[in-house]
Amino acid sequence: MYLIKRITLLTTLVMSLVSVTSFAQDLSEGAIAERIAPVGDVYLNGEIATANQGTDLSEPAGPRSGEKIYNTYCVACHATGAAGAPVKGDADAWQPRVAQGPETLLKHATEGFNAMPARGTCADCSDDEMAATVEFLTKGLY
Ligand code: HEC
Repeated sequence: MYLIKRITLLTTLVMSLVSVTSFAQDLSEGAIAERIAPVGDVYLNGEIATANQGTDLSEPAGPRSGEKIYNTYCVACHATGAAGAPVKGDADAWQPRVAQGPETLLKHATEGFNAMPARGTCADCSDDEMAATVEFLTKGLY
């Protein structure tokens, strides 16, 4: 008798759990539409990406700062002296270089100079961005 009572109790418990989970699903039209919606959205030109509002999906407009480019492309060599690069802020290493004048430094940075690669590996850097980067790299040395 006791065992039967327990089994009945357990069965009731399991049944009620099953029914709770099946009714827990939201069957409203909105909830269904959300569940079957495609994972990604495509925004055509001019459309507003409402789902991602506040997230800047585009490249920042305008030129990048010299500091940003330096930290992305030049830092590998000019912070460490790799390949014999003059280290940023090392006045002795830079003295004979800045003596050539800013135009020559910019020309060498843009066109390449011995082990210094053209545009310091920043292939898509504009001339203005190169100028800003060389200025940042040699700041305080003139
Ligand atoms: C792969 C390493 C490397 C990277 C990356 C690099 N440089 Fe250089 N850079 C050098 C080396 C090596 C020299 C020294 C070349 C020499 O005098 O023979 C140099 C020299 C220079 C000079 C001095 C040129 C002169 O006439 O004395 C400038 C200015 C310069 N780099 C700017 C930059 C800028 C700006 C970037 C990033 C956009 C950059 N470099 C990225 C290796 C690098």
